[in-house]
Amino acid sequence: MSTVKNTSEKTEKMEKKEKTVVRGLEDIVAAETGVSYVDGVNGALYYAGYNVHDLAGRTSYEETIHLLWYGELPNRIELADFRSRLVSEMRLPSQVIRMIELAPPNSHPMAVLRSIVSALGMFDPDVENNTLEANQRKAVRLTAQIPTIIADLHRVRTHQPVLSPDPHLGFAPNFLYMFRGSLPDQEETEAIDLCMMLHADHGLNASTFAARVTASTKSDMHAAITSAIATLKGPLHGGANQRVMEMLNRIDDVDEVKAYIEGMLDEKKRIMGFGHRVYKTEDPRAKHLRNISESLCHRANQGHLYEISHRIEQVVRKAKGIYPNVDFYSATVQHALGIPKEYFTTVFAASRISGWIAHILEQYADNRLIRPTSKYTGQYGRTFVPIEKR
Ligand code: ACO
Repeated sequence: MSTVKNTSEKTEKMEKKEKTVVRGLEDIVAAETGVSYVDGVNGALYYAGYNVHDLAGRTSYEETIHLLWYGELPNRIELADFRSRLVSEMRLPSQVIRMIELAPPNSHPMAVLRSIVSALGMFDPDVENNTLEANQRKAVRLTAQIPTIIADLHRVRTHQPVLSPDPHLGFAPNFLYMFRGSLPDQEETEAIDLCMMLHADHGLNASTFAARVTASTKSDMHAAITSAIATLKGPLHGGANQRVMEMLNRIDDVDEVKAYIEGMLDEKKRIMGFGHRVYKTEDPRAKHLRNISESLCHRANQGHLYEISHRIEQVVRKAKGIYPNVDFYSATVQHALGIPKEYFTTVFAASRISGWIAHILEQYADNRLIRPTSKYTGQYGRTFVPIEKR
């Protein structure tokens, strides 16, 4: 008995002395990666060595996926082949469409997406095959199927027939077509493509970390992507874009912005779509999304939404010195493209899957189980009391 007590006292002393907790793992280096680099000080983002400013408007989302997965931008022949492989894999098994139809009508689209991706693993012929070849096949299939899940869910919920992908369209515009039922024009095509490209990867963010943790147990790709979607859903991460739209809907006029934002800050509330763990200056993605938002909002007779957003940016910057992140202007971009706010984060997932997969493949290629430790702050040396005496 006394030996047990001594050991527990020693452990208690050791535990209190030696461990330092880094809350939120801030600045902890937990992986090596060649996928993307976030330069928080200079406000720059690089995909496999390319500055996103150089890629924006000059590469399609498919070219970006190719870059993240294979390390190189494709030539024309490789791009045509990759694009047609993606579009040809966009169909879902009929049982999965049935599952989408059975989802409770009030369930959040991110909850449906998370569950359907998990279910898709049960139908994938390669699910338990963790070779590189099988993982590359699954990568294409899963990336192709996610936009279809989102589009089908929306079609089912709005009592419209689900649509098949149009083989003549690129990957991102195909999503818009299947979602809305109308062909996107040139400006919409460029907007959705750029929006998806800008969301493709972003260092070791929370959902990517979740994907890598799951992959590090040598669990399957569908499992890792399910973890990532579950993590992206939260309002402090990808779920912020929906909350941005909800905030915009509560403000009727540009003149109301200052009082509204100051009221929120006085109440110590967070302004959704602002702030970032890594960027200490402007998020480079926000610059492009702001431009698309301005143009699409005015075109769609929603100029007031852009004006309100821009005013919010000025007020928050002045009051808190923080900048919009990727979620802020992506809200009005998606709204102007005709996507309801509940689906905003699913579109983020449809883009970020390319980065998640690149990281999962990297993790499998040089795996070590991700298993940090914790500092125990509970009690020590308690005396056991049998159930009849409690
Ligand atoms: N609104 C108001 N104040 C903020 C915000 C915000 N959006 N973001 C940070 N701050 C303030 C905090 O109150 C804190 O101020 P204080 O020092 O006076 O208390 C300071 O900035 C630092 O905040 P932390 O919470 O320590 O920063 P952290 O790195 O943990 O948070 C996060 C980053 C979670 C993104 C935060 O900025 C936030 O909550 N933003 C709103 C949600 C959001 O937009 N999430 C999307 C992020 S991008 C993405 O995941 C795709």
